[in-house]
Amino acid sequence: MVTAVVLEAVNEQINNELVSSYTYLAMSAHCSAQNFHGFAKWLRIQSAEEYDHAMKLLDFLINRGGGVRLNAIPEPKVKFKSMQEVFEVALKQEQDVSKRIDALYETAQKEKAFSLMVELQWFLTEQVEEEKQSRDIVAKFQLIKNDAVALLEMDRELGSRGPEKK
Ligand SMILES: [Fe+2]
Ligand SMILES: [Fe+2]
Repeated sequence: MVTAVVLEAVNEQINNELVSSYTYLAMSAHCSAQNFHGFAKWLRIQSAEEYDHAMKLLDFLINRGGGVRLNAIPEPKVKFKSMQEVFEVALKQEQDVSKRIDALYETAQKEKAFSLMVELQWFLTEQVEEEKQSRDIVAKFQLIKNDAVALLEMDRELGSRGPEKK
């Protein structure tokens, strides 16, 4: 069994992951509408990954016999000034999620929820990768500025992303 504090904290993180998934989906649709189908594909895959993160935590609660509670998902931001801004928002979101995972780990530690600590090891490693990924993309945008050719090349490059193996 998990304590009430742990239950509340994990349910909150399930919501955070679904909020991320929903935001990436909105970003993907925005990019599609702007004819950047490569960026759209990359973001759609990212959205699916965030959904998987939520399911990982949901399964954890189910396996521990805890009560899953699904909270409301707010409407995501859908207006962006540029492709660069889309990925800046993505980076900020990942940085925010990292902080939340750290806080969740701290809660797990305080509550002596050892199985959750093991589960969260994967998330801690994943966040390092996710932050790096979006930081690299933002850095490229800063480099290419408004160069149309470079922007199209980047769209093609990100569009070559395949779903990651688990
Ligand atoms: Fe995530
Ligand atoms: Fe993420």
